[in-house]
Amino acid sequence: MAEIKRIGVLTGGGDCPGLNPAIRGVVMRALDYNLEVMGIRDGWAGLIKGDMAPIGLADVDTIISVGGTILGTSRTNPFKKEEDVQKVLDNIKKFNLDAIIGIGGDDTLGVANKLSKRGAPAVGVPKTMDNDVSGTEYCIGFDTAVSVAVDALERLRDTARSHHRIMVLEVMGRDAGWVALMTGLAGGADWILIPEVPVDFDEMCKHLMDVRARGRSYGLVVVSEGVKLPHLDENAGGEVDAFGHVRLGLRGVGQAVGDEIEKRTGVQTRVAAIGHIQRGGSPTVSDRYYPTRLGMAAVDLVMKGEFGKMPAVVGNKIVTVDLDVAVGKTKTVPIELWNEVKALFK
Ligand code: F6P
Repeated sequence: MAEIKRIGVLTGGGDCPGLNPAIRGVVMRALDYNLEVMGIRDGWAGLIKGDMAPIGLADVDTIISVGGTILGTSRTNPFKKEEDVQKVLDNIKKFNLDAIIGIGGDDTLGVANKLSKRGAPAVGVPKTMDNDVSGTEYCIGFDTAVSVAVDALERLRDTARSHHRIMVLEVMGRDAGWVALMTGLAGGADWILIPEVPVDFDEMCKHLMDVRARGRSYGLVVVSEGVKLPHLDENAGGEVDAFGHVRLGLRGVGQAVGDEIEKRTGVQTRVAAIGHIQRGGSPTVSDRYYPTRLGMAAVDLVMKGEFGKMPAVVGNKIVTVDLDVAVGKTKTVPIELWNEVKALFK
């Protein structure tokens, strides 16, 4: 194996708190091996353009508590055009990058995987507030997103209680209900709607009215943006990103659910969709602890020549997973977990 002297690191897809701790972990570990680290700007776009600069200790020293990503990010997909793939491969050579570390969700990891099959020395690090990457129990950004959403739900409880209303909180999460499920559980919601389970308005509204009948004059519902409703446009007006994802937030599922609840129960209902607020702010302790260790482990994989892989968290330990196992299969909420959480709707 060729000697590793210089590596490139990039963050791709939606930003979230925890990316900076991961970048810091990469740089800190690289110092142990005397590696030079190039910070690639704006995800795969930076590798297509050759937009990168060295980053060292001074750049990452104090970023552990800072949200977002110091490298910038984008949803650029080089595999949309073969010429862009060629530019990526050429720039890896031109900038003498002996390895690439791509920190991102399914899309970014998918590109890293495809590149490694084309001979590029790439490894991944799992990141997404949606928590839907397979092969890992933890994804960077999820814990902070849920913490923000729980805080929002608690605020909604105060105003719901005062006005004797039902409040609906719409959260992100794409086609997986992790954010909604965890938010609802941790915030004590009366009902949770996730994409994995068909919506049953009869059951939900009966429960919300039962709660009122037993003397609590308000209700809290958490709905995931990806929940399917028969009368709602699945394509959200047709706007898709470079990986073919529609902007689910545009569908207004929270409002549609709120309208239906008000119609059926006669109880005044209000809706809050917190959108990108979930992706900002200082990372939680978990979103510092794991990203730092995953970033460090990614450099270790590079040094061992284990390309086409990513470090993952399984059973609280950092393990190595093939990108083939991680990408292309959304990790959704298992029905057993949903049933367990549903038992709390009392
Ligand atoms: O994948 C992360 C995520 O926050 C999803 O939950 C959401 O649907 C999407 O990104 C929003 O993307 P954008 O920031 O491009 O609007």
